[in-house]
Amino acid sequence: MSPLDTPGTANVGDPAGTPDATLVADADAADAADAAEVAEVAAEVRARAAELARDLDEHAYRYYVLDSPTVSDAEYDRLMHELAEIETCYPQLRTPDSPTQKVAGSFSTLFTPVEHLERMLSLDNVFTGSELEAWAARATRDTEVDAWLCELKIDGLAVDLVYEDGFLVRAATRGDGRTGEDVTRNIRTLSVVPTRLHGACVPELLEIRGEVFFPTVAFTELNTTLVAAGAKPFANPRNAAAGSLRQKDPRVTATRPLSMIVHGLGVHRGLDVAAQSEAYGRMAELGLPVSHHHQVVGGVAEVEAFVRRWGEHRHDVEHEIDGVVVKVDAFGLQRRLGATSKSPRWAVAYKYPPEEVTTRLLDIEVNVGRTGRVTPFGRLEPVRVAGSTVGLATLHNADQVERKGVLIGDTVVLRKAGDVIPEIVGPVVDLRDGSERAFVMPTRCPECDTELVRPDGEVDVRCPNTVSCPAQLRESIFHFASRGALDIDGLGYETAAGLLDAGRVHDVGDIFHLSPESFEGLRGFGQKKIEQILRGVEQARHRPLWRLLVGLSIRHVGPSAARALAREMRSVDAIAGASTEALAAVDGVGSTIAASIVDWFADPRHREILERVRSGGAQVADAGADDGPGPLTGVTIVITGTLVTWSRDSATEVVQARGGKVTASVSRKTTFVVVGADPGASKYDKARALKVPVLDEAGFAVLLDA
Ligand code: IVH
Repeated sequence: MSPLDTPGTANVGDPAGTPDATLVADADAADAADAAEVAEVAAEVRARAAELARDLDEHAYRYYVLDSPTVSDAEYDRLMHELAEIETCYPQLRTPDSPTQKVAGSFSTLFTPVEHLERMLSLDNVFTGSELEAWAARATRDTEVDAWLCELKIDGLAVDLVYEDGFLVRAATRGDGRTGEDVTRNIRTLSVVPTRLHGACVPELLEIRGEVFFPTVAFTELNTTLVAAGAKPFANPRNAAAGSLRQKDPRVTATRPLSMIVHGLGVHRGLDVAAQSEAYGRMAELGLPVSHHHQVVGGVAEVEAFVRRWGEHRHDVEHEIDGVVVKVDAFGLQRRLGATSKSPRWAVAYKYPPEEVTTRLLDIEVNVGRTGRVTPFGRLEPVRVAGSTVGLATLHNADQVERKGVLIGDTVVLRKAGDVIPEIVGPVVDLRDGSERAFVMPTRCPECDTELVRPDGEVDVRCPNTVSCPAQLRESIFHFASRGALDIDGLGYETAAGLLDAGRVHDVGDIFHLSPESFEGLRGFGQKKIEQILRGVEQARHRPLWRLLVGLSIRHVGPSAARALAREMRSVDAIAGASTEALAAVDGVGSTIAASIVDWFADPRHREILERVRSGGAQVADAGADDGPGPLTGVTIVITGTLVTWSRDSATEVVQARGGKVTASVSRKTTFVVVGADPGASKYDKARALKVPVLDEAGFAVLLDA
């Protein structure tokens, strides 16, 4: 027997008689005599009264709960008047729940228990490919499954929606699977959930299951607002979703950017679909929020590929996902496979390894970086998360500690998403015992005792002692020698700290003056190690200019700005002598970076460092910088697409060697755009729009030979 035919399952009325009960009053007419009387009213009149009641409820709701009416007060009054007139002629239509009988705005938000029309089951989990295959083998033992539906497992909270004749009449949380909480008014504040289904041909009855979630990017913002208002922050987006939906006052829910994705079908009448994927198609037509990421595949190998793919892209969706759900697509086969007492046999959840754990925040300390930035970080009780053991986690700045609402001693949620640096998400407030204490940002540098400064309008606190703060020197030498900068083999953190502590180097300028004597009497430096370092230093003398620029730890100058500067200016001297305007005009360098460069070079101590770099034999200009005018002097070239003869770097070098410039984007100043295979459409289009001559690779070769 179809669940629809089961006696009692059509009872979607709210037992506590919230205003929504009006919407189903006809269907619910338990009293036979009343039903007979109602039947005497002309069908059109009865339909109009029901429509007015629904619309009035909707308008009152938008007015009182959403603060967002869609009709004027006058129009509202007109509709109310029309309904009252009908009820005067036909008093039997005047139910206690009619909008004419209620005080508008008296919305009850106590969560009333509601029975789901059809039980809401849970899912069994698998964690490995072989468990997934074993599950699929069981599912296909007696059935021929040729279509599997793969979709994302949204980390939110399950809800059940009931639509009657296209109107959302009830929404409930899952509860124990049989009985949930009535959250109709809260759900109706979600902009993605239609209160009325779209299209002419809406099903008579539709029970929908889905997941309500809190978009990941909005989560931090919510916690910031909560903490600022002295309220309790949420530990993660899922809790934020549940907490936001299950608000007594739906106006609070309305302020939260909750969203929803539908993933199941319960009892339905008037919807003829043979497969889950087909149901999604219909649901989308009806205006329901269906995920774009589901996919029907033919075999388990493809299911595994889907699982793998999304494992790599798990952070590319707007909500958190904790796995993939695999379903047998055909409803006929789903019915044949049936369910255990807890979960269906036709679906399974493949769970990804957790990226979130809880641990104790033992202390908050601060670290002084190479540019003097003072950063708080959490010292944690070490814990394993996403494949590694984590004992430290950055907290970025004092504002962030405050915004996250974490206290020293808290149990915190720690997150390590993929390869990303571990992050403290928030505190588990309910586990506090009163012994926790707030972090206070120090006012003096923990390494050199200089008074810290916080420049106007900046979130970061800094140690202004850029020249002799041991922490800054240590970090800047380490950075100078690191892979991203001059890449000095053998010169790691320990070496940098050892040389500095022993007074053998004082700043990065001394690195190019290291000699075997510099290591005399130092522990841990054998002959081989010393040779390795000195070889590394010699190689570093010949690195391109951009690497030296990165290595100097000029605030805001990272690899891309450094490359842009080197490309256009070609020598440290040209950069040092340039005005803020000239620097800011370099493609890829803005006014902030330009100002920071000018500041850096204005400091005589920095100029001294540069002189030490120069006198140590390091190259401070790229090839061709001082050769005087070349055949391409004054020519600016943009290269797009792949060239056969040149790599991007070698093409840049040959242009520069002839006195020309290579820039990243096309402008009126561009002399030629060189187009290789698979060019970027925007550069090519822009070249055409600005009428910049376009050269192919052969034309480029001719230009170089000219
Ligand atoms: S289908 C019969 N699909 O995960 C149960 N559930 O851990 C069918 N969930 O209770 C559920 N994303 O609340 C399904 N794409 C998805 C889902 C999903 C998240 C939730 C759902 C379920 C829980 C089980």
